[in-house]
Amino acid sequence: MAYWGAKQMEPENHAVDRSIAERAARQYNPGPGERRRQHVQAVLRRAPISGGSPRQTRMRTARMLLQSMNVVSKSSVLDPTEPPPLEGLAHRRSEGSRRERTLASTQFADGRFHNTVKLRETIQGGTMAMFGELFFGGQQRRPPAPLPLERPHELWARRPATGFRATWLGHSTVLLELDGRRVLTDPVFGKRVSPVGFIGPKRFHPVPAELAELPPIDLILLSHDHLDHLCKPTMTALARTGVPVVTALGVGAHLERYGFAPEKITELDWNEFTELGGLRITATPSQHFSGRSLGGRNKTLWASWVIQSERRKVFFSGDTGLTPEFELIGRTHGPFDLVMLEIGAFHPSWGTIHLGPANALEAFRMLGGGTLLPVHWGTFSLGFHAWDEPGEMLLDLATARGDRILTPRLGAAFEPEHLDGPTPWWREVHALGRSPAPVIVSR
Ligand SMILES: [Fe+2]
Repeated sequence: MAYWGAKQMEPENHAVDRSIAERAARQYNPGPGERRRQHVQAVLRRAPISGGSPRQTRMRTARMLLQSMNVVSKSSVLDPTEPPPLEGLAHRRSEGSRRERTLASTQFADGRFHNTVKLRETIQGGTMAMFGELFFGGQQRRPPAPLPLERPHELWARRPATGFRATWLGHSTVLLELDGRRVLTDPVFGKRVSPVGFIGPKRFHPVPAELAELPPIDLILLSHDHLDHLCKPTMTALARTGVPVVTALGVGAHLERYGFAPEKITELDWNEFTELGGLRITATPSQHFSGRSLGGRNKTLWASWVIQSERRKVFFSGDTGLTPEFELIGRTHGPFDLVMLEIGAFHPSWGTIHLGPANALEAFRMLGGGTLLPVHWGTFSLGFHAWDEPGEMLLDLATARGDRILTPRLGAAFEPEHLDGPTPWWREVHALGRSPAPVIVSR
């Protein structure tokens, strides 16, 4: 039997291939995930050139795809959490005073924004191993049954007794109510994370409330321009309401394109703040990247955020890896009434640009602790892990550390001071079975 490796690779290339596998083995922490990755890589290497079983044909197709992907991905961080940038061939940049502010930013150099530390720009374990895991990893990446949802509408009609309430609507979309003001973070109400609408990761659950059912919003806070945070159909609809948006430098050009009037857009550099609608919004550093069009990589800024009302203060991570900046943010702006940190789409290969549960808890400590609300999970499959792994892992780690986390059901309007602790709602999914979606849970 002829094998792909035997036909395609000269002996010295075999040596190169082995060194990749050895390097991968050194870089990863051995564990069940690593053993699975190594197994997938070994199986792919043995895939026959032609013929064979359906499984072997599938492996051969994957092998060919991996080879072609390897050509385009070696020179940059390849992050499958970000769908292909097909929105346009050219990035639309800000003009006028907003462009001048971009050029003046200390984070902007050589036509792009930069993190405070230079990030590793290769994939740990090689692209082969990563895409092998993508196709053959075996994790349950979508829920096996409809997710339990709560309807927040009735509670939204009443003022929160503590003056502070939050409603997680999915992924990084949270409605915050602070001292009578309302902020909506990274509103994504679209069916898919996609530049074109008919392909791309599809949401696990319906939105707990439609856009038209939201109470009046004082401002939208948009952390950065990635497709799973800046949703074109959502923002196009919100533009018609006249709501103002606060975002990071450069992102306003997208918003103008989606119908927002320039006077409704406030762009901030790191460590700048604006006061709007009775709220103070401060952009703070994060460690990530940006782009939603070909050639648009890092042409706009990304940020974490401090949201402050008269008596309340919330931290929102946006998308970020673990950065030493969190210590300073905690000292400068803390303590927080609620810390919203991303926990989904984690993987060793992009561990510098996403937190994952373990680093989220470390960031939480650096920020000064308090109460943690995990976001950026439970709605889309944007990583290689099981759909419920971020929640389960966070709960385990936080319990061991004694950290206070809250994991309300999707759509639950909750006052952080009234909740005793986490609700492991994702465990209900298997118990509920295959009921017709959505499953509305009443409290
Ligand atoms: Fe992102």
